[in-house]
Amino acid sequence: MNKMVRPFFFTLMLILISGSVFAQNPLTNEKIEQKVDSVLALMTLEEKAGQLNQHNGSWDFTGPVPDGNEYAQTRAALLKNGGVGSLLNVTGAKATYEAQKLVVENSRLGIPLIFGFDVIHGFKTIFPIPLAEAASWDVKAVEQSARVAAIEASAAGVNWTFAPMVDVGRDARWGRVMEGSGEDPYLGTQMALARMQGFQTSDLSSYNSIMATGKHLAGYGFSESGRDYNTVDVGKHTLLNIILPPFEALAKNGVGTFMNSFNDLNGIPANGDTYLQRTLLKEDWGFEGFIISDWGSIRQMINHGYSKDLKQAAYHSITSGNDMDMESEAYQHHLVDLVESGEVDIKFVDEAVRRVLRMKFHLGLFDDPYKYSDETREANMIYTEEHRAIARDVAKRSIVLLKNENELLPISKSTPKIAVIGHLAADKDTPLGNWRGRGESESAVSLLEGIENAVGSDVEVTYAEGYTLAEGNGSFSQALNFPKDDGSGFDDAVSNAREADVVIMVVGEEGLQSGEGRSQTDISLKGRQLELFKLVQEVNDNIVTVVMAGRPIVEPELYENASSLLYAWHLGTEAGNAIADVLFGDYNPAAKLPMSIPRDVGQIPIYYNFRNPGRPTPGPGDAGSVFWSQFNDMPNSPQYIFGYGLSYTEFEYSDFSVTKNTMAMDDEVEVTVTVKNSGSVAGEEVVQFYIKDHFASAIRPVKELKGFEKIMLETGESKTVTFIVNWETLAFYAADEQFKAEPGMFSLMVGTNSNDVQTLELELVE
Ligand code: BGC
Repeated sequence: MNKMVRPFFFTLMLILISGSVFAQNPLTNEKIEQKVDSVLALMTLEEKAGQLNQHNGSWDFTGPVPDGNEYAQTRAALLKNGGVGSLLNVTGAKATYEAQKLVVENSRLGIPLIFGFDVIHGFKTIFPIPLAEAASWDVKAVEQSARVAAIEASAAGVNWTFAPMVDVGRDARWGRVMEGSGEDPYLGTQMALARMQGFQTSDLSSYNSIMATGKHLAGYGFSESGRDYNTVDVGKHTLLNIILPPFEALAKNGVGTFMNSFNDLNGIPANGDTYLQRTLLKEDWGFEGFIISDWGSIRQMINHGYSKDLKQAAYHSITSGNDMDMESEAYQHHLVDLVESGEVDIKFVDEAVRRVLRMKFHLGLFDDPYKYSDETREANMIYTEEHRAIARDVAKRSIVLLKNENELLPISKSTPKIAVIGHLAADKDTPLGNWRGRGESESAVSLLEGIENAVGSDVEVTYAEGYTLAEGNGSFSQALNFPKDDGSGFDDAVSNAREADVVIMVVGEEGLQSGEGRSQTDISLKGRQLELFKLVQEVNDNIVTVVMAGRPIVEPELYENASSLLYAWHLGTEAGNAIADVLFGDYNPAAKLPMSIPRDVGQIPIYYNFRNPGRPTPGPGDAGSVFWSQFNDMPNSPQYIFGYGLSYTEFEYSDFSVTKNTMAMDDEVEVTVTVKNSGSVAGEEVVQFYIKDHFASAIRPVKELKGFEKIMLETGESKTVTFIVNWETLAFYAADEQFKAEPGMFSLMVGTNSNDVQTLELELVE
């Protein structure tokens, strides 16, 4: 048999199963196609351009259009003429109802609007930032988080979220790593699919499911030096094998939309990239939904130096496959002209409109344009006790235990005196993180509150702010101001620490210090946090350090000196309660890092699945040599590697085996391992499965995650975990850009993180 190549195999399977490739596409429904045809046939060119135009909600739709506001008046007129296909940032049952009514009752064809909003990690009940959720490695929890977000958003009139962000992130300087799932394409793909399922469910037309968006196509996470919006230069190999897998999975599993990205990719702005949008997404992967630009990204092609004016930007955008224009007004002003002058073939416009209408039919908007605007649901389904309980559950699953040297954790609830230290410990805003939807400022449970909720009145809890961070919360600019800390809070903190049995010290970054536009060259602890940590440590060894951050923080002194360390990200509405659950042992932590924590920014980009250079280690007899791929001033390894995370119990791995050591291309083998909870409390373990392809037509990473399973084990209990390996597990986009497995030797590895693994060999034969 020849080497397996996916296009052939995939096509063959589809034909065998369904009799037609077409029928397999999750977004293809013949009845809907007929309806789309009939609407399209009625539309004027102006109305078509209108469907491709998305505007930001620019006035309060619950009142009359403000008379004196020319901008609002123009928008209102546009809406009434069918000149807008979608609004973003208009939320609330009443506001969306009014906006929809304006369109449905006044425009000639009454084609309903779609309402888009960035529901990134919750709507009003805020869940952990996506990077934190990825640390849970818990696909069910992540799906549930997206489900709750969809239930709340859809009750407030929103039927489309610009999530999940599936950009692989290897550079913690880039503030948007908080919004993704970290450095690994496999984990990222599982998280992407879980989120899509939670948002869309299997019935997109349901009143409480919302359309998802895979973003940003593509390469946005690889901006040079982690500076947001910066240029991206990556080879095809990395593009196909690292950056694109989550996009491909979303496309093939029925995501409704994709968003392109601000960056240029190898010299072409993503918004004008025909290869990405048409060749790959729409043709090769068969995507039938539509692509939305990012905010103003059509217009920004002028700044890139790609389009000479807005008209040419519109031309570049529509011909390369971007369907809807978010806030560039390029399609609004130029599409009709471009078609009438013959510069743009109407087929491009028709295709884009067809895609938008298709999704409006899938959402059921033509049957009932108002179904999401339900004030009763809005009053009853948002920020409920039940949703908050789920948010707490997901939050506790996202906390990574990095160190527990003296087994100080979990802390006994009868500890007489606990000193809580740190500005972030009492901060009710930071846990909401960036992209907090309609989460209310200052609405999170702080860690201090969480601790007070957890312990009885016989435990004395003291609090000292200690260090200061930015002044004030909740504003974009404030979090970026780092006023000098005069150290006036140090004395109180140190004296509280001296008197306490246990100290819980919180350090990190504020909620708006990571996120879009929040790139930093220095990602260590700001201000005098580390200094205070050292002072506190001098007077009390029993310190549990909690890091709250939207990205991996680089602070080797902290990591090396802290004896008990929890990485608690920005965990959302219930953050404080969830961290307390872990601190006091009501929940045994099981999360694992989705992104390596560097020792130094100079190591960035740093990731576990690197390719070996020609001089990976000193050669024989080279002791002391510098001529190998290393830093002269620090190890190559990160502080904490991808997949790392501890538990309050111990797990033993044994009986690692594979059913055969040689596998034919059309065969499969089973890899099994037994995991035993040999410690003294029940706990969950994320069993991780990696491979390495030893020799290939293009160099393969030293390790690649190919599977994981999160299992619960009582004390003394053992479970056997099985991973199935077939050609697809071993396949990659090879030197000829075909997805295939190449015969040869592979290592199969299982373990508790990407470093501590056991290895077996497998030979793949033709
Ligand atoms: C971001 C997108 C977001 C859009 C709409 C842009 O600045 O890059 O991810 O969906 O704004 O808010």
